[in-house]
Amino acid sequence: MSLLVTGIGELVTNDPALGRGPLGLLTDAAVVVADGGVAWTGPATAAPDADARMDLGGRAVVPGFVDSHAHLVFAGDRAEEFEARMSGARYDGGGIGTTVAATRAASDEELRGRLRGLVAEMRRQGTTTVEVKSGYGLTVEDEARSLRLAAEVTAETTFLGAHVVPSEYGGRSDAYVDLVTGPMLAACAPHARWADVFCEPGSPHAFDGDQARAVLAAGRAAGLGLRVHANQLTAGPGVQLAVDLGAASADHCTHLSAADVDALAGGTTVATLLPGVEFSTRSPYPDARRLLDAGATVALATDCNPGSCFTSSMAFCVALAVREMRMTPAEAVWAATAGGAAALRRTDVGHLAPGARADLAVLDAPSYRHLAYRPGVPLVRALELPG
Ligand code: NIG
Ligand code: FE
Repeated sequence: MSLLVTGIGELVTNDPALGRGPLGLLTDAAVVVADGGVAWTGPATAAPDADARMDLGGRAVVPGFVDSHAHLVFAGDRAEEFEARMSGARYDGGGIGTTVAATRAASDEELRGRLRGLVAEMRRQGTTTVEVKSGYGLTVEDEARSLRLAAEVTAETTFLGAHVVPSEYGGRSDAYVDLVTGPMLAACAPHARWADVFCEPGSPHAFDGDQARAVLAAGRAAGLGLRVHANQLTAGPGVQLAVDLGAASADHCTHLSAADVDALAGGTTVATLLPGVEFSTRSPYPDARRLLDAGATVALATDCNPGSCFTSSMAFCVALAVREMRMTPAEAVWAATAGGAAALRRTDVGHLAPGARADLAVLDAPSYRHLAYRPGVPLVRALELPG
């Protein structure tokens, strides 16, 4: 059964062969959807027939957001930590231990309920692909459990046993790295597509460059793709490690040296910016312009987590990227869709050319620009297709 979606006032395809500019923009467009995929995209006047029709009344359509960085398997709440930060307390990752204790104590049902609730909340705001990390279990059993739950809601599951060193190991600990790269990885790899590490010599809770390299090398040897929490608090070794190892993405990129920017511009590693974190930790924003102007591929993601940034809204991140990081609305929307897909090395999402997954996000607005122009307004949702 095929469906002709028509009445699309403005369509972002992200395919320059289909429309204007890097967004492949079309006005008065139509899309034919069949078997969960895009079968045809073009001007409404040229649309082929289909079994059924849906008229969007002139609304804008963008590819569903690809949120390539989120921590959704957790229990508990850190609103008081947020409140303290707003009064001047610094973020250093120490609060992660609070969430680890709550997550270990939670039942599968509690974790699953929270996880599914957040994925549904994202979908209602236009996100159709989400990556989900472990990282609040930090025992062999609790990390494997987190990933089993994550795999129920997404194919983009990431093993983050190296999130922080859990308190039972004391400070920065090679013994814990041995656990992560040994039995924990063995138990988690069957449920994960990616391995990640919080590489941050500036945090007493996270991992230094040598430890991060060991974690990533072990992940790669286990067949996992690589991603890195890099350069969030200081200009540490994370970004260059990510590029060296051919990681799909270096995430945060808040503090970059000139060599870091060159490495990202010259490699295949996507720079994933998480401006909700800077908003929620009252920190300086990453220099998106410098990355874009150097030729790096930039993605935007929420980093949705109970500590450093508890937003599920990609539209909010787009607005921050435009207002605070001086990305153009077009650059920001591309980064939140095609950029996220690049960061996950996916070619079936983040665009709306024939062959893509039929992930359409519809705006109660005439143009994608309204995502930044109308901050905080719930304009965008995933389009629910019949059947
Ligand atoms: O990406 N930086 C490390 N991890 C998360 C925060 C997790 C937390 O604070 O609970 C991040 O910001
Ligand atoms: Fe994160």
